[in-house]
Amino acid sequence: MKRTLLLFALLVATTFSAVADKGMWLPSLISSRIKDMKSKGFKLSAEDIYSINKASLKDAVVLFDGGCTGEIVSEKGLILTNHHCGYDAIQALSSVEHDYLTDGFWAKNHSEELYCPGLKVHILVRMEEVTERIAAGETKEDIIKKAEAEGRGYKAKVESMYYGNMAYLFIYREFNDVRLVGAPPTTIGKFGADNDNWIWPRHTGDFSIFRIYADQENNPAEYSANNKPYTPARHFKISTAGIKEGDFTMIYGFPGNTQEYITSDAVKYIAELSDPTKIDLRTQRLDIIGAAQAKSPETRIKYAAKQANIANAWKKWQGEVKGINRLGTYDKKVAYEDKFRKENPDKAYLLDSLKAAYERNMDGYFNYELFNETLCGIELQQVVLLAMEKDAAKREAAIERFYKDFDVNVDRQLAIAMLKAYEALATADAPALKALFAQHGGAENYANWLYDNTKLGTYESFKSAEIEADPMSEFARAIVPIQAYAKKYKYRNLSNIPDIERWFRPYVKALMEWDKKRAFFPDANLTLRVAYGKVAGYEYADGEWHLPQTTIEGIIAKDNPEIYDYNVPQQLRDAYEKKAYGRWGVNMYGKYTVPVCFIATNHTTGGNSGSPVLNNKGELIGVNFDRTWLSTMSDIEFDETLCRNIICDIRYVLFVVDVVGGAGWIIEEMGL
Ligand code: ARG
Ligand code: GLU
Repeated sequence: MKRTLLLFALLVATTFSAVADKGMWLPSLISSRIKDMKSKGFKLSAEDIYSINKASLKDAVVLFDGGCTGEIVSEKGLILTNHHCGYDAIQALSSVEHDYLTDGFWAKNHSEELYCPGLKVHILVRMEEVTERIAAGETKEDIIKKAEAEGRGYKAKVESMYYGNMAYLFIYREFNDVRLVGAPPTTIGKFGADNDNWIWPRHTGDFSIFRIYADQENNPAEYSANNKPYTPARHFKISTAGIKEGDFTMIYGFPGNTQEYITSDAVKYIAELSDPTKIDLRTQRLDIIGAAQAKSPETRIKYAAKQANIANAWKKWQGEVKGINRLGTYDKKVAYEDKFRKENPDKAYLLDSLKAAYERNMDGYFNYELFNETLCGIELQQVVLLAMEKDAAKREAAIERFYKDFDVNVDRQLAIAMLKAYEALATADAPALKALFAQHGGAENYANWLYDNTKLGTYESFKSAEIEADPMSEFARAIVPIQAYAKKYKYRNLSNIPDIERWFRPYVKALMEWDKKRAFFPDANLTLRVAYGKVAGYEYADGEWHLPQTTIEGIIAKDNPEIYDYNVPQQLRDAYEKKAYGRWGVNMYGKYTVPVCFIATNHTTGGNSGSPVLNNKGELIGVNFDRTWLSTMSDIEFDETLCRNIICDIRYVLFVVDVVGGAGWIIEEMGL
């Protein structure tokens, strides 16, 4: 056993040396990529990126709110992340009197910084391979327990890499006193909103600023007025020198999910069944919500965040399907598999076993996805669950929040559409729900009956309703078994279902032994990774070259006071009018301007939002926040000629903090 394990580590080391621009690499193994990085302009060492013996760049990267990345930019624990990553926290702190989403927020000093209940950041202490410990019989739970006993506020996780060929322990320090320091108004932080989402050229100032607080000994602690700013082991130095086509860039963050090694069957599932079904279901929901929003400004506001959420993946999946088709990913995978079979006849059974495993699980996984996209899209059932909360204060607050952004007529329309879709598409066992459909003459009639008879539709009627006896409770009970069934398939993606993954383990190992020229990185799984590439424009369409950098002129060109998402703040208009750019004005593209966003070839995915984008000296040049529409298939196949991540230029961040926020003290704190 031990020998095969060592052999796998060796395999990883050799494949790591293959030349590639794609890939999301484990920081602790980055030494095997340093040669390639240096050949592309990188000036630092592997130890500068990740070290357990001295402070390194990894000490300045944080997992923000469990799904985004952030970076520490001062010796007082100041962090930068995206506006869309801080959105929930900013919204929760906002009220009619203090609307920080619309107006922005700028603390004038530490005492004005606002504590964000529930917001956590994690900083990696170290990562280490534990494959052998697990092989020797230690359980994940034991390993985690031992690791968490090592220090105050330690949280540990064991994650598998290469479909279970390796296991890694990640030890984090978890900080839960995090405070809001600054946020631009939405018309900067979310400029262009859904229209511009996934689009280049882009002009969004998608950043927000927070601070980590710690106790007197600099340890993680619950919120206390006595806590003080956290002193990090390392923070990022900022470079305002600017970027140009071809410059080396590196990104350090927490990418969430890629599927680089899936077989043709899974590609087919994604491109022909999963994505198209989900797109269609979300189109229906977006149409329903959009129509209601067009009729009432109140509904527009209530459903704005929900709509944005639904639209984000909806737009991404469309780009993904187009990308997969354009690249011919399915056919390429089939050819690759044929070649593998031919050259490894003794291992061809692995592909057969994988095929059989997909066949066993695809239907279940489809039903799990369907459950998420249909039944979970019906909101009113949630109130039944909220009402079960024991703590009265918490319950009241949650229920009030629920109704604040809810319209029963919209939800009725959603329920009709989603129950009809579920009736037509689901193959999972759902006796209770099917009985309700049958009893009322089909899904549509049932949905109408449900909303005609429930008393939970408004906060007022909810208050006097008998919740247990309400038809909505009956509905909620009917979907419990469907939820339980869905849970069996709830994995990062189809290929991570254990019954499939156990075949991926030997398959990926066999690929690595066979395909010596390919650079095998472990698929993203929300663990810390490094990706590198360069600043680069690209050919968007025939004859249409997209430059790698946008400027303030583009913001002004989109300015439209009539449209909420393009209504540029007056301070910015004034600054443009007078060319009053202070320290942040530059000459580029033959004009005096302010740089706004740029693109690069870094391999990124969801979770990389907020990630530090660094130059060849490891200095911060921008904050990552998106990919282009032509890139979104990079979760499955990365195409260097087209795939670009979108970054908010650090100079635009500084310009906004200074000119719009008037918060010069924050800039000073960043050492500028
Ligand atoms: N597309 C980016 C990401 O995947 C930004 C999403 C937030 N913006 C929005 N308009 N929904 O998360
Ligand atoms: N906006 C994404 C996020 O929230 C990053 C964009 C992408 O998917 O690459 O993580």
